[in-house]
Amino acid sequence: MQLTLSSESINDVSTPLLILGVFADEQLPGGLADVVESGDFTGKFKQTLLLPFVPSRPTMIAADAPAQMAGSSRAFAARRILLLGLGKQADATPEQLRRAYGLAVLRAKALNVAALAAAIPELGSLDRDATVRAIAEGLLLASYRFDKFKGSASKKQAEEPTELSAITLVGEGDAEIVEQAQIVARGVMLARDLGNEPPATCTPTRLAEVAREIAERGGMELTVLDREQMRELGMGGMLGVSQAAHEPPKFIVLEYGRKGQGKTLALVGKGITFDSGGISLKPGEKMDLMKMDMMGAAAVLGTMSVVAELKPQNIHVVAIVCATENLPGGNAFKPGDILKAMNGVTMEILNTDAEGRLVLADGLSYVQRYEPDAIIDLATLTGAVQIALGTHITGMITNNAELAQRVKQSGDATGELVWELPLLPEYRKAVKSTIADIKNTAGRAAGTITAGAFLEHFVDERPWVHLDIAGTAWVEIPPKVEDQAKPYNSVGAVGVGVRLLTDLVQRYTQEQA
Ligand code: BES
Ligand code: MN
Ligand code: ZN
Repeated sequence: MQLTLSSESINDVSTPLLILGVFADEQLPGGLADVVESGDFTGKFKQTLLLPFVPSRPTMIAADAPAQMAGSSRAFAARRILLLGLGKQADATPEQLRRAYGLAVLRAKALNVAALAAAIPELGSLDRDATVRAIAEGLLLASYRFDKFKGSASKKQAEEPTELSAITLVGEGDAEIVEQAQIVARGVMLARDLGNEPPATCTPTRLAEVAREIAERGGMELTVLDREQMRELGMGGMLGVSQAAHEPPKFIVLEYGRKGQGKTLALVGKGITFDSGGISLKPGEKMDLMKMDMMGAAAVLGTMSVVAELKPQNIHVVAIVCATENLPGGNAFKPGDILKAMNGVTMEILNTDAEGRLVLADGLSYVQRYEPDAIIDLATLTGAVQIALGTHITGMITNNAELAQRVKQSGDATGELVWELPLLPEYRKAVKSTIADIKNTAGRAAGTITAGAFLEHFVDERPWVHLDIAGTAWVEIPPKVEDQAKPYNSVGAVGVGVRLLTDLVQRYTQEQA
């Protein structure tokens, strides 16, 4: 998808579809107030009205033509116009704009246009950069589709809409902001692609290949540990979970910048490329969804891909991806087993389906050698977080209020909301085991928190935030696509976390400057 900025007037832009965002308390622009009945379009948030067959202005004007023919104020070069309600300007937030422009793209897709233009609306007191960024993100993220497995049959029968391949943003904006939005959107889309891809191709090996491509692009140091190297390091969690997997597990380390170059930020992603549950096998229904149990890893890789492009100064980022399948088999790890993580903590296995925390145990242990100033892990860790918080907000567990505040701030800024769940001493106690140090499940009660209490054993009291994205990483097919609360999140993998982490990295670097 190519997004370009144009300073043409909205009347002059030649496009199959022009999206005109209008606030409820604003006049219709471009002379449209005269032709649209005021009752038909009020500018209410997410209201849309398609104006077809807008008469085009004459493209060639004869030298001797009367002067007024050259510039009728009502004429648009656009083939059609989509009016887009933005609500009251005083209520406008970047997230509202992201949603509205995302919806406009869904409408455009239904119209089968290959290109569109969107006008930057009247800003009033809104910040121009924040507004342009939000609109650009909404347009780009909503234009995503995952069709690489659609065969020629469905394409021939025109079941598949035309690919939207070019968007022009019309108005006054900072080209650098638009470029940045594109880079961030590409990172999100990389994460989405990885999540949507089948488990047969999105393997630990594939994640390592993606990491290599990012490392090359960003001048980063890459280390990929295989099973043998994990054994040498005593990574009992990674080894146990991967024991019955035929796909080789990979422990991936990407390092951007150097120690002492600003703060050291550690990102750790759960990368279970398929979670069958193992011997504690999951029910068959919706098991296909467990191809997305690597969305924590995808968020980390997506973010590193953005870092590779933006090349922020004064920050040292260490990204870890703990990648393996979780499968049953004659040699699988079993309930009752005891595994020893890299830091020496012993873990009693009560349920092989609580595997994410086992691989993260080694990921978090390993990253301590970098003495990070902040550690953030992302994982589709518990079904319980869907029950507690639903699909619109990520669960957060932390040992450090200051880091939690930063993560929350970046969540608010990007619309990727997080909510802290309390790590009470009682829940810490709940994960103690009678025969090992800790056990990998503490029952259904407070399942997201006890998972966090488990992970805390691997962070050496450094500032740490755990983000449980099991509720927010995936969008199921809604009855009507436009009923989605966030139209810019296409169905399937969301790529949640990439925008939040990018914002966090940027704030750290701005502080150092
Ligand atoms: N990958 C799952 C969690 C999950 C559930 C992610 C739904 C996305 C959507 C995780 O490995 C898991 O199976 N968790 C168990 C833990 C339990 C056995 C303590 C769960 O939530 O049921
Ligand atoms: Mn599981
Ligand atoms: Zn899992």
